[in-house]
Amino acid sequence: MPSLMNNLESRNLAYLQSLENPEAFWGEIADQFTWKRKWDKVLDWNFETPSVRWFDGAQLNITENCLDRHLPDRGNDPALIWESNNPQEPSKTYTYRELHEAVCIFAQALRNEGIAKGDRVCIYMGMVPELAIAVLACARIGAIHSVIFGGFSAQSVSDRVNDAQAVAIITCDGAFRGAKDIALKTVIDEALTQCTSVKKVWVYQRTNTTISLLSGRDILWSDAIAAVDINQAIAVPAEIMEAEDPLFILYTSGSTGKPKGVVHTCAGYMVWTHYTFTQAFQYQPGWIHFCTADIGWITGHSYILYGPLSAGATTLMFEGTPTYPSPNRFWEVVEKHRVDILYTAPTAIRSLIGAGDEWVEKHAMPSLKVLGTVGEPINAEAWYWYHEKVGKGRCEIVDTWWQTETGGVLITNLAGATPSKPTYATLPLPGVEPLLVDEQGHEIFGNNVSGNLCIRRPWPGILRTTWGDHERCKQTYFSTYPGLYFTGDGALRDENGFYRITGRVDDVLNVSGHRIGTAEVENAINLYPGVVESAIVGYPHDIKGQGIYAYVIYQGDTTDRESLAKGINEVVSKTIGAIAKADKIQVVSGLPKTRSGKIMRRILRKIAEGELASLGDTTTLLDPAVVDEIIAGRR
Ligand code: PRX
Repeated sequence: MPSLMNNLESRNLAYLQSLENPEAFWGEIADQFTWKRKWDKVLDWNFETPSVRWFDGAQLNITENCLDRHLPDRGNDPALIWESNNPQEPSKTYTYRELHEAVCIFAQALRNEGIAKGDRVCIYMGMVPELAIAVLACARIGAIHSVIFGGFSAQSVSDRVNDAQAVAIITCDGAFRGAKDIALKTVIDEALTQCTSVKKVWVYQRTNTTISLLSGRDILWSDAIAAVDINQAIAVPAEIMEAEDPLFILYTSGSTGKPKGVVHTCAGYMVWTHYTFTQAFQYQPGWIHFCTADIGWITGHSYILYGPLSAGATTLMFEGTPTYPSPNRFWEVVEKHRVDILYTAPTAIRSLIGAGDEWVEKHAMPSLKVLGTVGEPINAEAWYWYHEKVGKGRCEIVDTWWQTETGGVLITNLAGATPSKPTYATLPLPGVEPLLVDEQGHEIFGNNVSGNLCIRRPWPGILRTTWGDHERCKQTYFSTYPGLYFTGDGALRDENGFYRITGRVDDVLNVSGHRIGTAEVENAINLYPGVVESAIVGYPHDIKGQGIYAYVIYQGDTTDRESLAKGINEVVSKTIGAIAKADKIQVVSGLPKTRSGKIMRRILRKIAEGELASLGDTTTLLDPAVVDEIIAGRR
């Protein structure tokens, strides 16, 4: 496997080589994977179209790289450890051999129902091992998986199923999460009343709640696997995939109303998740890696499943939450399984800070070596607490910046090998060429500057398209600044050339590390009877990072504000999911608009943030008086 860049000099050298001769650089790294056929060309790209092809002509199956190739040497090593939501329930361990077997069996169950290469399969499950098995089984047979986070509503599920024209769903009866028991199958039943493409639904029973099964469509997971002959299933070769065949779709929110299906392909994504996993965390064989994300998000795809498994690591999958039944659950899990790498989000860290230091102080956690953070900018207080209280001052912190679209980490320090700086993601990985631009797209040179973060050339893990709408991919990422990939983030570059990501500069919010499009929430709020118009902005929130502030024009009785807010949030939950509920709702008689009718979000943001002194020029507004009214009614 690629050797680790274990100091700043070796990182700098690799970085130069990767930019000077990307084909030689990535060709050498890719040589170390299992291919059915090697590539004809390492890289072919054009950001205008956009078109990016890595390892074109190569053939592979990613699951052979994540499972089969480890069998001779590591077959009896733990591949996946699963820890329940309930501390009393025993954990489960799958060795590489057992995980391989389970994946082959479920892959055969899928084949038995006619699911084949290129079919789209939506997965809507809680964090049980069968979720990992389902994802890998799809990859094994070349079906394109689209995992939908278990917190999304029936409406969101049906939108995603319809957009992908999925032929099958894999779900659970329900999911345990903290004190909650979430009825997933009921949501699927409701969602499928609006979907005609789905022919089969597999149901894994986790909570044993009562469910209804539609005859001819629904199959219990247990029945499906009981019907498979193990030896026969293992003997079936993995589907041969072209390097640029889609591996999965993952829907994510953007600045327009409808979530986009980000598409990642087989070879580049595999190389990128493997490379970034091993380098960022400085992974050593035998280490146990605990990524606390949900597999419904990209972090779970790349750093619970594909990255660690392709490296032959032991990946720990946790069903629960950081604070259930008490706020030392993470620390218990770390001690119980002697975790080496802990990878979590600032929002989780902040909620644990809020619970008090006594919980973490009881746990020495001597096994911990590397602490990772991802999903949103980490504030200095959270960084230092993570370092001192969790890492006891002896663990490296890696601040990894990346996105659903990037497949894996782009900017990070390398644990212990390159310098860290609190709140800074620091330096780009080899192959990643970031730059800052101003609003007009002019590059901002030098250090101690800030601007909009773009990337100049493709790395192996970049998205290839948005499902069913390539033009949208072009417009969203490659047209704002022609010739560049635009991240949607703002960043600053310090005197050492280290990057600090300051947050989104588009109409996307980051609430508890979840990406939420303002237009999506506004569309949902506007469905509430009597709502004429709404505008959503983010405001600083102690735990969530950003909270959702909604300004709503409502024609109706406003005497009972509480029940109005409750009613609006119920519609949001039903349309998107509880993660998108507004934290504050203010009823207004008008919104600040320019004479051309554009909502001045900058002003609304400042009011929500409480920065009333810096509202800027409001005289160009259609109705400047509305601003005073909004300020007076601030929540
Ligand atoms: O704003 C950045 C923020 O999360 C966004 C991407 O969200 P998503 O696609 O859901 O993926 C999250 C997991 C990779 C980015 O545009 N973000 C992610 N990591 C960081 C971050 N902001 C600051 N620092 C980070 N380390």
